[in-house]
Amino acid sequence: MPDPIDVEVKKHSEDSIQRELWGTRVGFILAAVGSAVGLGNMWRFPYRVSEGGGAAFVVLYIALTLIMGIPLMLAEFSVGRRTRLSPIGAFKKEGGGGWSIVGFLGVLTGFLILSYYSVIAGWVIRYGIEGIISGFAADPAAHFGEITTGIAPIIYHLAFMAVTITIVSVGVEKGIEKASLILMPVLFAIVLGLAVWAFTLPGSDAGYSFYLAPSLSELMSFTTLSEAAGQAFFSLSLGMGAMLTFASYLSKHENLNREAATIAASDFGVAFTAGLVVFPVIAALGLTADVGESTVGALFIALPGAFVEMGAIGRVVGIAFFFALTVGAVTSAVSLLEVVTASAIDEFKIHRKSAAIGAGIIITLVGVLPALNLNALGLIDRITEWFLALGALGVTLFVGWRMRNPQEEMLDGASGFFASIVPAVLFFIRFIMPLIIIPVIIYTGLNLVTEFRTVFG
Ligand code: TRP
Repeated sequence: MPDPIDVEVKKHSEDSIQRELWGTRVGFILAAVGSAVGLGNMWRFPYRVSEGGGAAFVVLYIALTLIMGIPLMLAEFSVGRRTRLSPIGAFKKEGGGGWSIVGFLGVLTGFLILSYYSVIAGWVIRYGIEGIISGFAADPAAHFGEITTGIAPIIYHLAFMAVTITIVSVGVEKGIEKASLILMPVLFAIVLGLAVWAFTLPGSDAGYSFYLAPSLSELMSFTTLSEAAGQAFFSLSLGMGAMLTFASYLSKHENLNREAATIAASDFGVAFTAGLVVFPVIAALGLTADVGESTVGALFIALPGAFVEMGAIGRVVGIAFFFALTVGAVTSAVSLLEVVTASAIDEFKIHRKSAAIGAGIIITLVGVLPALNLNALGLIDRITEWFLALGALGVTLFVGWRMRNPQEEMLDGASGFFASIVPAVLFFIRFIMPLIIIPVIIYTGLNLVTEFRTVFG
């Protein structure tokens, strides 16, 4: 007797280009963790914490990862696995034509995020190469300024996009799973080691208190809450259908709840540890003023500073760090391009190669703007953060109110504790999450207007 799932997969493959499936369960988790863990943890998290006032942001971020991140990831998983389609088709099939707009928004968001994500990844590559050739610069703040101006950032952006496009053209299993397997643990090990080292630095106390000691008044700020929500969506790759798309390659045996919790925990672990490196180092090396001027550069100013300080060994650690971070960025970029590519494959029935290359080239061209201009980069980052919040609302309302029997999909493959909490999670998705996300959308929108004013005013 063939397994009913196999039959379903076969049927699907007959009427369209064959749909790939994950090689193994571990492969799926690694790819999802690979998507989540990237520049969002190492670059964006410290950057947003510096801007958002420190510890209060961190506390709200932790709370939101738990109470919104995990349910939202479960929601995306269940839509993806139910429909076995990429976002546009998934919302259309399960909800009717109008809902496909949530999918379209997701594809657009992925497209825009990748355009500047690749620019930052290009900086990472350049730091790594410079580490090898000439060592890390003694004046990290001035060096960050040099790295981000001129034509060179475009070249590195092109190189990074070329790698991403190649992996996505090769396909889900062969391309993505293998790359994540070794280098994610390496990245985490290096960051953990750096955090321990940072702890031994004299003068790091101010960094820890900025990062870890919140004041009550800041905790009550809705602006901080919205920014923390935006960071949670970004870091967990939520709100644009990336997790949805990954789950569309998944079988019915997977315990979606447990996977969501595992992925969120890993993602949080890396981001939090990155903060335990960046802030003590900034304080101990007297870089506070430099970072204050360019919060976007917090990571890129703090870490090379640390590597120089560590002497010869710092150079080796630094090279390894930037190499591993490049891989982390690649696995995330792959998931962004995968959403756009999978949508093109599903919607236009074109081949993976043409879809990946076509979409990749357009994204590369759009990325020239943020490569040339840091303000543009910051602005696109804010705009997409707002889109992610809109997308998150779309997914929440869809799963809560439109999808047929979402509970059944969430329970398939779940057992024990993870099965028992599903009704509560669903209640939360229906009634509570919209009440949090709607104000977040309003506040993020207001922040965006302020940002527009500072850039153009
Ligand atoms: N989460 C990734 C990071 O932290 C970036 C990313 C990949 C992403 N795919 C996404 C962000 C989808 C939002 C949506 O680096």
